[in-house]
Amino acid sequence: MPSNDVAFQRCISPACGATYDVGQVLVSCPECGNLLDVAYDWDRLPIPKQLSELEEKWRLRSEPLNFSGVWRFRDLLPFAPDEKIVSVGEGQTILQQANFVAEYAGLRPGKLFLQYEGMNPSGSFKDNGMSAAFTHAHLIGAKRAACASTGNTSASLAMYCSVTQLMKAIIFVGSGKIAYGKLSQALEYGALTVQIAGDFDDAMARVKEVSSKLGVYLVNSVNPFRLEGQKTIMFRVLEALRWEVPDWIVVPGGNLGNSSAFGKAFIELKELGLIDRVPRLAIINASGADTLYELYEKRNLRWRQGDPNAELACYYYDELDEQQRKASTIASAIEINRPVNLNKCIRALEFCDGVVRKVNDQQILDAKARVGAGGIGCEPASAASVAGAKILCEEGIIGADERVVCILTGHQLKDPTATVAYHTTDQAQFNEVLGSRGVQRASFANRAVAVQNDLDEIIRAIQLYS
Ligand code: F0G
Repeated sequence: MPSNDVAFQRCISPACGATYDVGQVLVSCPECGNLLDVAYDWDRLPIPKQLSELEEKWRLRSEPLNFSGVWRFRDLLPFAPDEKIVSVGEGQTILQQANFVAEYAGLRPGKLFLQYEGMNPSGSFKDNGMSAAFTHAHLIGAKRAACASTGNTSASLAMYCSVTQLMKAIIFVGSGKIAYGKLSQALEYGALTVQIAGDFDDAMARVKEVSSKLGVYLVNSVNPFRLEGQKTIMFRVLEALRWEVPDWIVVPGGNLGNSSAFGKAFIELKELGLIDRVPRLAIINASGADTLYELYEKRNLRWRQGDPNAELACYYYDELDEQQRKASTIASAIEINRPVNLNKCIRALEFCDGVVRKVNDQQILDAKARVGAGGIGCEPASAASVAGAKILCEEGIIGADERVVCILTGHQLKDPTATVAYHTTDQAQFNEVLGSRGVQRASFANRAVAVQNDLDEIIRAIQLYS
């Protein structure tokens, strides 16, 4: 088993703090059951004196690891030797200033930035984390890797497996619960696709059991190596802002891996003296999958410096079971009621003075339409970030002059069904896909114009509508 004397795994609970070798495959602390972090002995590592030094790697981008938007920051996630790192060129993403969308959200021009993670090779932010988890899987010699997924994690895992041919992908999805763009990726990339009669929460529980029984490497975000890769989204945001820390990071919350990773990134940058302040974190749930909102904002679940009132989550999950309440939202990517990273996420919220909001499917789809009309499209879950920023501006919690970065987590083409139903002229299609979810109108719809196949009519229509 490989051992690395500067990186190790550590239980996130300060009361436990047990440590484990990087060569061990763990998804929770064997001592106390809590989540694990990848931790580093920074004193023995060559840490840059300032963040701008990290740009040097980009000059050397003919070298694949320096081309990767994840691994050119490997000084800040140094758990694998270079020769073991698996990269398919992930993380070439952009931070786009978005004035059109800023106006919608209630921010002044120049204040809203969209971090477009849809540009990753499999079309979502997951590639950042998958590259890191896959690297760890490769490091320990895994031959099969599994995940439960609402679609993007599975697309990403399937892609890494097919591009590298290093492992076989086994994916668990809820039956009828994933958007077609994502399902088509997993099937085409050749993943063994197990459709479970249930939702994501059911699939997640099962994949944990199966991977432990069969010794299959698990790449869900309970895997601490996944989150190391996702830290780099924040490094790229800072880099694009010329290493200035924004006032807010706004991110959709599902299984809470991303928000946890962002928190860890800022905890480490602060500890290393590479930033002098941290942004505030806003995590946005869908109203139909609002566990974090309920626990954090309503019931006051807090990290309390490592001594969380975790029983609140247990009571809440019992309630969900008693009422047989299942997650339900058009933003299928975040249709999750039992987020596995809850504890790490509340740690991030504490460190980043965070807030949690929820947005309904109407707000999500309207925000999505504005994001698309403003330039780069995204899938419904991603638009929750913009819908959430708008609410926080309306509440006065985000000031119109504050610098806000919304994370667009997935590509627009991931979920064509939701997009086409929003813009359709066919009321029956609208009702079936969206009306059934309480979406009443498509305020920003761009409807196709139907015309006869006749030149004069076509010209008349263009003159009428343009
Ligand atoms: N946005 C998109 C597009 C996602 O696919 C996900 C999660 C999230 C946001 C939420 O991120 O879980 O880190 O809070 N998708 C997972 C999946 C669950 O299986 O693809 P999170």
